Amino acid sequence: MISKKISNKMASGSWIRKMFEEGARLKALHGAENVYDFSLGNPDLEPPEQVLETISRLASTQETGTHGYMNNAGYPAVRAAIAADLTARSGIELNENLICMTVGAAGGLNVALKSLLDPGDEVIVLAPYFVEYLSYIDNHGGVPVVVDCDRTSLLPVAEAIQQAITDRTKAIIINSPNNPSGKIYSAELLQEIDRMLLAQKNTIYVISDEPYIDLVYDGRKTPESLKWLTNLLVCFSWSKSLSLPGERIGFLAISPRAEDHDELAAAAAYCNRTLGFVNAPALFQRVIAESLGAKVDVARYERRRDLLIEVIRQAGFEADAPEGGLYVFMKTPNDDDIRFADICAQERILLVPGRGFGFSGYVRLCFAVPEQTITASAQAFANVAQVYA
Ligand SMILES: Cc1ncc(COP(=O)(O)O)c(C=O)c1O
Repeated sequence: MISKKISNKMASGSWIRKMFEEGARLKALHGAENVYDFSLGNPDLEPPEQVLETISRLASTQETGTHGYMNNAGYPAVRAAIAADLTARSGIELNENLICMTVGAAGGLNVALKSLLDPGDEVIVLAPYFVEYLSYIDNHGGVPVVVDCDRTSLLPVAEAIQQAITDRTKAIIINSPNNPSGKIYSAELLQEIDRMLLAQKNTIYVISDEPYIDLVYDGRKTPESLKWLTNLLVCFSWSKSLSLPGERIGFLAISPRAEDHDELAAAAAYCNRTLGFVNAPALFQRVIAESLGAKVDVARYERRRDLLIEVIRQAGFEADAPEGGLYVFMKTPNDDDIRFADICAQERILLVPGRGFGFSGYVRLCFAVPEQTITASAQAFANVAQVYA
């Protein structure tokens, strides 16, 4: 018999999984081309050509030891290349000892939380949030404490975070560009959060989850968390910027300004091993070390973002164009985002209710879908709007 805890969690399920199941049902009924599926955040652009070539070259190398275990934190040369890249980007001097190669950003988040948490420690999560944060915190005996972002700007408010801090607060997870809101945190906002955290009596670490850092639009740049935050751990992956989500490759970087940074780095390598990851995939560590300047064709995502925003607005709905990431977070005509998602499903539009991200009154649409899907959905959105007219 499986554990009661997991049994309960599986029964409550996630909205994304529910939409996935509904999608499979609708596609079987109407044909995949007649379903407008904006529910899944699965990057659909191919990795850059140069990365595909690097993969085939490195996959066929005959060198002995190529497929062996290595240091649990990853190949020293790969970590040194990443440390140099982060130093150049942020102006904060890092060396390879502060980098741990991880199994995606999800692996990095679990390693970071495992390294930091004692049972009952609290971790602040900002709603709307990537729902897996709650499971990852629970994995390591932590307790999530949810703080809402401002309902209009969808940005965190330092004062609201401060009010949620207790003697048990160990960390806060931030995510910019944000899934689902599409917002990028400004340097000023990061500085404000940093000042507030440094004024607390206990050390509170910031775990910055940054898989979308390279997917930014209208010429924007994501402010470097390493520059603006002190007690910082960065989780990154190449899932989105190189479209390699199935290859599970990322890193955890610990700021040299973070309290106990050396101990944290040693703890990360230890936890990478004891969580059962052992080390990040060997081939892909080598691939990304040769691909640090590469990224997917972000302009294609930007075009799709623009198309989707146009379709939504023409139907009469409100949505800010996301500054980064792969999602439009759209306001629903009233607070009942679940009913809105149901009405959309009747029109064969699949999206995820904001409640799935701890934030009602919104829905999330992923625009990592073919342009044709977006343009073909216009009539269906207009039909949904009619229901609310
Ligand atoms: C905000 C956020 N964090 C972490 C992850 C996990 O990333 P990875 O697949 O690199 O582990 C995702 C994946 O969609 C995400 O959206």
